Amino acid sequence: MKRFYIKTYGCQMNFYDSEKIMALLAKNGYDIVPRPEDADIIAVNTCSVRKHAENRALSFLSSYKHLKKEGKILCLLGCTAGLYKDAIYKKYGFIDVVCNPNNYNKLPEVLPLSSQKKICLIEEDGSPFISEQIVPHKQVSSFITVTKGCENFCSYCVVPFTRGKLISKKPEDICREIKNLIEKGIREIILLGQNVNEYGKDTGDDFPSLLEKINNIDGLLRFGFLTSHPKDIADTLILAFQSLPKLYKHLHLPLQSGSDRILQLMNRRYSLAQYMKIIDTARKTAPNITITSDIITGFPSETKDDFNKTVQTIKNICFDDLFVFKYSARPLTKSSAMEDDVPEEEKRERHKTILDFQEEIALKRNQRFIGEVDNVFVIKPAHKKRGCFLGKSSTNKTVMFTSPHSRPGTLEKVTITSADRRYLFGDSSSGN
Ligand code: 5AD
Ligand code: SF4
Repeated sequence: MKRFYIKTYGCQMNFYDSEKIMALLAKNGYDIVPRPEDADIIAVNTCSVRKHAENRALSFLSSYKHLKKEGKILCLLGCTAGLYKDAIYKKYGFIDVVCNPNNYNKLPEVLPLSSQKKICLIEEDGSPFISEQIVPHKQVSSFITVTKGCENFCSYCVVPFTRGKLISKKPEDICREIKNLIEKGIREIILLGQNVNEYGKDTGDDFPSLLEKINNIDGLLRFGFLTSHPKDIADTLILAFQSLPKLYKHLHLPLQSGSDRILQLMNRRYSLAQYMKIIDTARKTAPNITITSDIITGFPSETKDDFNKTVQTIKNICFDDLFVFKYSARPLTKSSAMEDDVPEEEKRERHKTILDFQEEIALKRNQRFIGEVDNVFVIKPAHKKRGCFLGKSSTNKTVMFTSPHSRPGTLEKVTITSADRRYLFGDSSSGN
């Protein structure tokens, strides 16, 4: 029972967790295989933030239940595992192992027992961080989780119930981890946390100071962080965009709604005016900064008027990019007790309205870079396009550029010559 396959759904943190799980199991003698058919143990790592991802993950796993008679083991890993606890076995009797993100470290020890009995690892107090990490050959970018959990209890959000309370990694451990990755060829790091700018609230450490320490690490060329909460944006954090040259000038700052009434029902703990002030300060401090956001459409009781406020706000701010989600009620959350009264069709319509006009805004925002020369972080050759490379601008935009001599993991001067809604296009030779 040594061949392991994992399929991942959801956010970057989930993908990062899966990498860590694979590294941990590989270290313990497991073979990580690319196809479920080739595995003895088939796992899904699920996200339960939105119902859609959860449904897809569970239906993926159930599509392999016919293989159980051949002795295959089916595992449900991730947030969903903790959310439904052992009730999951009642509904999905074919699942053999359930393990939440706090208990991945125990997997090597318990997986061998899974052919004899059902295993359920859902305790809150496990160890949330895995130290092993695989760095595939030629990879130059990596994620690092710096905080785990969240205690903000936004009324729609299941994360405080699935990922538990805030735990911050020590700055020295983070820096050590980054230095190890640099030895393996990594040159760009994205720091991850559910509410990353709350980093250190539990330990007395300070997020802007952590960023400064990371900026000073030799060999690192670029770094960024995800996801920030507007209520925890310190002025010193915004100044970091100006003072730390390796930090991407990019802020992902979920707005969720442009209506103060809805923001209050969401328990977001900021007003639209406070949010606008942050955007204003960020743009004054770092004029080129890119700002992206998350929006939920159809939160319980959202009227046309509330929605129009969101539309107007998005048009006023002109985000560089937006992630728009239709509200879905999640177990245990406060909003799940509210009537989910916006019809599905209306949620979809509002969702589409925003996505449609955002296309135009995103295009215009990208076009502002045309003519600029930027230090682009080179990631890899563009698929099937000779002489073309993919990289990231200093504002964390994807750049496709031509170059006679690019090397992944280096910075290269690129002149931006055109842009579409997703990419900046450029030419390296004219930038030198
Ligand atoms: N319904 C819809 N979207 C949600 N999000 C979180 N919970 C829900 C929910 N119940 C969105 C928020 C968050 C992003 C990661 O997912 O916009 O910022
Ligand atoms: Fe969920 Fe709010 Fe925490 Fe983000 S800050 S993870 S939306 S509870």
